[in-house]
Amino acid sequence: MTRTEAEEYLKKCGQEHLLKYYDELDSDEKKELLRQIEKTDFSIIDVNKSAEVSEDELIEPLAAMKIEHINENVDRYREKGIEAIKQCKVGAVLLAGGQGTRLGFDKPKGMFNIGETKELYIFERLILNMMDVVNETGAWVPLFIMTSEKNNEDTVNFFKEHNYFGYDKDFITFFVQEMAPSVDYTGKVYMENKSRISLSPNGNGGWFTSLMKSEAVKMIDKYGIEWLNVFAVDNVLQRIADPVFVGATIDSGCVSGAKVVKKANPDEKVGVMCKRNGHPSIIEYYEFTDELKAVMDETGEPAYNYGVILNYLFRVKELREILDARFPIHIVEKKIPYMNEDCEMINPDKPNGYKFEELILDMISMLKDCLVFEVDREKEFAPVKNKTGVDSVDSARMLLKKNGIEI
Ligand code: UTP
Repeated sequence: MTRTEAEEYLKKCGQEHLLKYYDELDSDEKKELLRQIEKTDFSIIDVNKSAEVSEDELIEPLAAMKIEHINENVDRYREKGIEAIKQCKVGAVLLAGGQGTRLGFDKPKGMFNIGETKELYIFERLILNMMDVVNETGAWVPLFIMTSEKNNEDTVNFFKEHNYFGYDKDFITFFVQEMAPSVDYTGKVYMENKSRISLSPNGNGGWFTSLMKSEAVKMIDKYGIEWLNVFAVDNVLQRIADPVFVGATIDSGCVSGAKVVKKANPDEKVGVMCKRNGHPSIIEYYEFTDELKAVMDETGEPAYNYGVILNYLFRVKELREILDARFPIHIVEKKIPYMNEDCEMINPDKPNGYKFEELILDMISMLKDCLVFEVDREKEFAPVKNKTGVDSVDSARMLLKKNGIEI
C-alpha cells in the first residue's frame, strides 16, 4: 500500500489522523505503518452498537446432562473418550491471547505464579491437569496454544525455559491470533506511538480461523484430529481433554459440548446455556431478564441454571463448514494505553475506549447442537480473573487447596 492509497482508505473510514506523523518517520517506520493500515479491518468499528436482545428471538431452555446421570454412565463415557484420545482424535486448544487487564499482571496471564509456598505458574497448573489424562490414556494429547502478537514471544520463551513443564514439546504448537483496532469513545483509532496504531487481540472467537491460517493446521491433518477441546487460560482447576466429557459428547451424537456449572445464585454474572431460534446458544448475564429467571423446568429447578466455564468441545468437521462465516462483533469497554496529543504515552487507570471482539460463544450458535455437560464447580471451576474478591487469585488458591493440590 502506498501513502496515497492509505490516505484514500483512511479517509473513507474517518481515520485520517493515523498518518499525522508520517513525514517524521524513517523509511522502516513508514513501511511498518502502511503495513498495519493495510491489514487492519476498520469496517468493524461501530461505537453505537447496542447489546440488546432483538425482539424476534425465540429463547428456550436447553437441558443439561446432570452430574447424577453422568455418574451412572461414567465408565462407558470414559472408555469411549479414552479410545478417541488413544487414536489421537482429540486435540486441545489453550486460549492464551487475552490481555488479562483485570488481573493487572504485565506478563501473559499463564506466567502468573499462583503458588504460595512454591512456584506454580498458571501454565504449569494447566499442563499438570493435562498430564493426568496423558497418564490415564498413555497418549499425548496434541496441544495448540493461541497467543497474540502482544504476548507470543514471552509465552513461547516461558514454555521453552521451563522445558514445557514436562509435556512432550513435539505435541505443542503455538499459533498467533489476529488483531483489531482499539478506539476512543468517538470511534477514532488510538495510536501507540507515531508509527504504530493501537491494536489488540480480536477476541477468543477467532481462534479457529487463526488456527486454520497457521502451521498448526498441518498437525490437525497429520494426526487426523476430529475433536478440539477449547479452554481458557485462567481456570486452574478445569479438566482438559477429559475422557468422560469427550466420551459423553461423542455418545450423544452432538457436534459440540459445553462444560457448565450450576449457577451459584440467579444473579451470578455468567453466561447461561439456552436454545436461541432452535440453535444452542448462551444468554449473557446482561440479557438475563427477570422473566427468564422465573422459568422453571419440570423438576422445579430454574430452567436457565447452568453457566458456561469456557471449556468447549467442537467437532472439527462442522467447524470447517462455518470457517468463512462472519461472527458478530462485540464492543468491549477497556483501558487502552495510547499516545496523547503531546506524543506522550498514557496508561489510563480507568476505561477510555473500546476494543472489538469476536466471541467463542457465537460459534456455538452456528452449530446445530451442543451437549450441555455439568461439572462440579467446587472441583472444576477456579478462574483467575481478578487480584482479589470473586474469581480471583485468592479464590482460586482456596479452591486448589480444597482439592488437595499443594500450592
Ligand atoms: P477474558 O474474557 O477473561 O479476557 O478471556 P482477557 O482479555 O483475558 O481478560 P480481561 O477481560 O482483560 O481481564 C477469556 C479467555 O479467552 C482468551 C483469554 O486469554 C482467556 O483464556 N482470549 C481473550 C484470547 O485468547 N484472545 C482474546 O482476544 C481475548
